[in-house]
Amino acid sequence: MPGDRWQELLAALTVEEKAGLVAGTGFWTAGGVERLGIGALKLSDGPAGVRGDGLLGAGTPTACLPCGASLGATWDPELLEELGALAGDEAAAKGVHVLLAPTVNLHRAPFGGRNFECYSEDPLLSGRLAAAFVRGVQSRGVAAAVKHFAANDSEHERHTIDVRADERTLRETVLPPFKAVVVEGGAWGVMGSYNRLNGIHCCEHEWLLGTVLRDDWGFDGFVVSDWFATRSTIGSACAGMSLEMPGPPAFYGTPLAEAVEAGDVDDTVLDRIAGDVLRLRERIGALDGPSSAMSLADEAELDRPEDRALLRRAAVAGTVLLRNDGVLPLELSGVRSLAVIGPNADRACVMGGGSAQVNPYRSSTLLEALRSRLEGRVALRHEPGCDVSRTTPPLGWPDLAGKATAAYFDGHGCRGEPAAVTAAGSFEAVAVGEPHPGVDAAEYSLKMTAMLVPSTTGRYELRLMQAGRARVLIDGEVVLDATEGFFGGGEAYLGMMSAEIPAPVDLVAGEAVEVAVEFENRDAMFLAGFRLGLLAPEPADLLGAAVEAASACDAAIVVVGTDHEWETEGRDRDAWELPGGQPELIRRVAEANPRTIVVVNAVGPHALDWLEAPAAVLHAGFGGQEFGEAAADMILGDAEPGGRMPTTVPAQAEQFAAHVNYPGDGGAVHYGERMFVGHRWHDSLGIEPAVPFGFGLSYTTFEIGPPRLARSTAAAGEDVSVDVEVNNTGDRRGAEVVQIYVEPLQPRVQRPIRELKGFAKVHLDPGEKATVSVVLNAGAFARYDPRGADFASADDAGWYVDPGDYRIAAGRSSRHLCGTATVTLTGEPRRLAP
Ligand code: BGC
Repeated sequence: MPGDRWQELLAALTVEEKAGLVAGTGFWTAGGVERLGIGALKLSDGPAGVRGDGLLGAGTPTACLPCGASLGATWDPELLEELGALAGDEAAAKGVHVLLAPTVNLHRAPFGGRNFECYSEDPLLSGRLAAAFVRGVQSRGVAAAVKHFAANDSEHERHTIDVRADERTLRETVLPPFKAVVVEGGAWGVMGSYNRLNGIHCCEHEWLLGTVLRDDWGFDGFVVSDWFATRSTIGSACAGMSLEMPGPPAFYGTPLAEAVEAGDVDDTVLDRIAGDVLRLRERIGALDGPSSAMSLADEAELDRPEDRALLRRAAVAGTVLLRNDGVLPLELSGVRSLAVIGPNADRACVMGGGSAQVNPYRSSTLLEALRSRLEGRVALRHEPGCDVSRTTPPLGWPDLAGKATAAYFDGHGCRGEPAAVTAAGSFEAVAVGEPHPGVDAAEYSLKMTAMLVPSTTGRYELRLMQAGRARVLIDGEVVLDATEGFFGGGEAYLGMMSAEIPAPVDLVAGEAVEVAVEFENRDAMFLAGFRLGLLAPEPADLLGAAVEAASACDAAIVVVGTDHEWETEGRDRDAWELPGGQPELIRRVAEANPRTIVVVNAVGPHALDWLEAPAAVLHAGFGGQEFGEAAADMILGDAEPGGRMPTTVPAQAEQFAAHVNYPGDGGAVHYGERMFVGHRWHDSLGIEPAVPFGFGLSYTTFEIGPPRLARSTAAAGEDVSVDVEVNNTGDRRGAEVVQIYVEPLQPRVQRPIRELKGFAKVHLDPGEKATVSVVLNAGAFARYDPRGADFASADDAGWYVDPGDYRIAAGRSSRHLCGTATVTLTGEPRRLAP
């Protein structure tokens, strides 16, 4: 708990100082007040790790955690707390005071662009895991800001979309993860989202930031705006938004001081939000006197062996075994050759795209991991099988003979002596601000050159994307000129780059040419740079080669998936199938080799109608930096996949709950499915999913006993404790997740047939038994009623537990229930604290 020091300081601050304290000073910083020893703040993304300064994948190397959805699949709060502590350590190493994480919006539709960042479709699972993560982060004296508050479940029109949802829907589905993070996790920060909620922007939403967050949940932390999400001075301050980011501010700072001087904003309003950011500093120890003020520590790298081990364990724990006809773990005695197929087999797709991207210490691929372990024992054959590039990859190795040279010039036109010369691995150069230390960020140009050795003869196609102005030269001759005219409409780099600009070029196999790009940051808005790709004349028969390799080898592994361009912030997904014809690749390889193992390196959810074709399927998500090593551990049997699906995979694209209301139109989206998000919809309507919520196999087998209740009647509002026996009946150690669902048998209002209300993960040796105990508190039976228990008056709005019979089911998914017991709740409807 913060002490009194912040109050003394608040009293000592002028209006201008207070108005400045609640505003950003830079992209990642908020200033302090030197004369009073109030330290500056550094904030950083989150949630895949701690990026520190930098943007997207650029920045100081850092630990890259499995993505949110992979963490959701762990069902393991203890593990999440460990990972949170690691993120806290990384933040401290990078001088970061506020980590912009975790993301607890829900997987409302399979197409949500940021699903990978969020944990689950389920409010309870998301909230428990995220609360544990936050406890871990904050145990290191670093604040966590949980995001994006609230209902930011899709990227469609993300800055403006108006989410229309009734209060019960919000209280029962959208808000509980945030409530858990605030109440159980004790989060010091919350980030207000871009979208509107019932007509009002979330960063100026009095009901959301005042009534719900502070009055009902007792939150006494700070609310930071999402980046550029602030819309007003008076409205935001009065609603209780404490910090406008980034800086320089548009609404706080001087405009806020002026509004206070003019009497448009009350002093007490300013004091309240300035108090929020002072308490934050007290919590993180940034009020320790003048010496700590303003100094942002130099960013350091940790990369400790124990962190790598933890990240590897987490990637394993978040991988779900969806199918196994006995081929896994792979018995190597009969395998002399192994086909390692798939577009992601040798590409490190370890995270989704957007602000969650970090620059990982390392990125492991499955192909590399298998090579290092099977060298000399098994012959590996790699074939990509198809091309899934959403945009043309940058020209680099192996097409280039060596590295490219990048010469930076102050001013436009690539004239005079370069200010800096450096080597580049590929034709991609993107920067915000200084492109290279010492180069003039305001006006610079860049010439990148390299030798290209074509592998075939014919008409190639150059593909240029730019934020700024560029032209491409081959052997000194301009072949693509994009220095004039407008080229917008791209989607890479969160839409800050142009679309791809094509130009043909004829090349001859083996005849080296010099490729050059001349770029200047003219007309670039925020991000500046370019990317140049090159398409070969005739696409090779990738599928044919993969099928041939599969039939020639003793077993096949196919790593299918997406990457940070397919699953990204800024845009929802537009395809239900895995891209690039991967379903066809899986089917053809599985036909060619009965020992085919598929690893899904994507989140989605995507169509899984091919699930029965291969012998085994591992759903790995984006597993973070240790993804490849972890996948190899599981395939070779050194570890067992411990995950369970955090989200239902519908059998057909249109069968998810929000379908008829997704993505919305006319600037609004109705949450018409109400409380029936995810498994609640499938279960209530009896729709068979491709994979149910909570499902996951193991390398061993478990028996889950029926739930045993401590008593069969209880007064409405009392806790009910449930014991369940779990028995490892197989022959190896493994993990099982016991899931407790509650079914109201005489609901007074429409309710989902079944809802997850508790869970426990146990690790057992062969033959070992354990009894797990789950306490169902009053909230597990409650429903929210905006009209009170008797449906008469909004004054009685709140959470109610109705008397009646409730079936308690213990299961291994929302569809695999292993036993039930009934508890009768007696007495009058019981109103709970908000
Ligand atoms: C994202 C936030 C992120 C912020 C800063 C926004 O675009 O929505 O999640 O924390 O940028 O990068």
